[in-house]
Amino acid sequence: MDAQSSFHFETLLIHGGLEPGPAGATTVPIVQSSSFAHATAEDLEDIFRGRKAGQIYTRLNNPTTDSLEKRLALLEGGVAAVATASGMAAISTAVLTILRSGDEILSSSSLFGGTYSLFHDTLANYGILSRFVDPTDLAAFRAAVSPATRLIFVETIGNPKMDVPDIAALAAIAREGGIPLMLDATVSTPYLARGRDLGADLVIHSTSKYINGTGSTIGGAIIDNGTFDWKSPLYPHFELYAKKYRQFAFTARLRKLMHKDLGACPAPMNSFLLTEGIETLALRMDRHCTNALALARFLQTHPKVAWVNYPGLEDSSFHDVATRQFGNRYGGLLTFGLYSQVEAFRLINALKLARNLANIGDAKTLVIHPASTICVDYPLEQRLLLGVSDELVRVSVGLEHEKDIIGDFSQALEAL
Ligand SMILES: Cc1ncc(COP(=O)(O)O)c(C=O)c1O
Repeated sequence: MDAQSSFHFETLLIHGGLEPGPAGATTVPIVQSSSFAHATAEDLEDIFRGRKAGQIYTRLNNPTTDSLEKRLALLEGGVAAVATASGMAAISTAVLTILRSGDEILSSSSLFGGTYSLFHDTLANYGILSRFVDPTDLAAFRAAVSPATRLIFVETIGNPKMDVPDIAALAAIAREGGIPLMLDATVSTPYLARGRDLGADLVIHSTSKYINGTGSTIGGAIIDNGTFDWKSPLYPHFELYAKKYRQFAFTARLRKLMHKDLGACPAPMNSFLLTEGIETLALRMDRHCTNALALARFLQTHPKVAWVNYPGLEDSSFHDVATRQFGNRYGGLLTFGLYSQVEAFRLINALKLARNLANIGDAKTLVIHPASTICVDYPLEQRLLLGVSDELVRVSVGLEHEKDIIGDFSQALEAL
């Protein structure tokens, strides 16, 4: 396994964590078993006590999921990865591993709606409060660090606001405060940038999106870069883990407590589908990026389009930081505005190729009107904080031929 860490990203996408399968199988076996038998009572005790490696029960570990986790850790350059049943499971399991009642999250105000709801409503019910601050306003972000802050949480590219914070600058604020930086890198994927290289201690992916790539599976992942010093007196509940597991303190606490207790494990079949899907991530992301740039340029010049938000456009206020962080690749997601919600609905209804659904990162081009769907339960003020105005349409640009994608939006705009 260690020998693999010298491979290039594209090679790791295919071979990372893949052991030779039974009878020469070249794909990871789907080990569809809830639990694993061991020869003696002593053997099982040793595994439970962590004296010996071994499988116990699929809620805790599973060979198919192990293989996916090893690949994700290699791709991110982390010390360990834990796969979960969904992206939201990854976020909730990871933050609850760190936070206790009375602690605060300093969070980007530009978040996926589900994460905002988790932080703003659900965690608040258990005494964990969140401050939401624009992550592109570094002075405001630094000023919002309080004595109770125990976690900084940011999305690499905000979904759906499409803002691109300067992650290295935010990592410096986190380091000054002795607080870990957790990055949701779902939209950028490890192909555009590894969270570790940007300065993140922990990385989250909703693997349901680009990592799967086909819209077939829900999944999530937490990658521990092993960079945060959990011996800090701000985290007394990590003391024993830091002593015993050192670099692996976070993953050890996560596996032994939250992942075990919340039980948001992936099904082996889903781990298999994700392991298959990820093989083509690099090729797909290149096409997502070129298609999204082509569509953004087309929309930008269209008289019926009010504005376009895509960091790949030279006049985007996030172009420079995105170029520095992602190296001339800006992802497959964009938003644009019409002149009213009525027009946004008409456009979506007139599209013939793009599917109207609540997902991103599929091979197919997808659209949604977030104000009336993902954010339908939020009052206007909260929606605007998340960057969701009534006239906004989000597009997850797929892998079809760019002329067909542009043709579809062109005919739908003409029909307005
Ligand atoms: C940026 C981001 N993070 C997290 C999630 C949640 O992931 P999942 O739907 O797999 O629970 C999503 C889902 O859209 C997302 O876009």
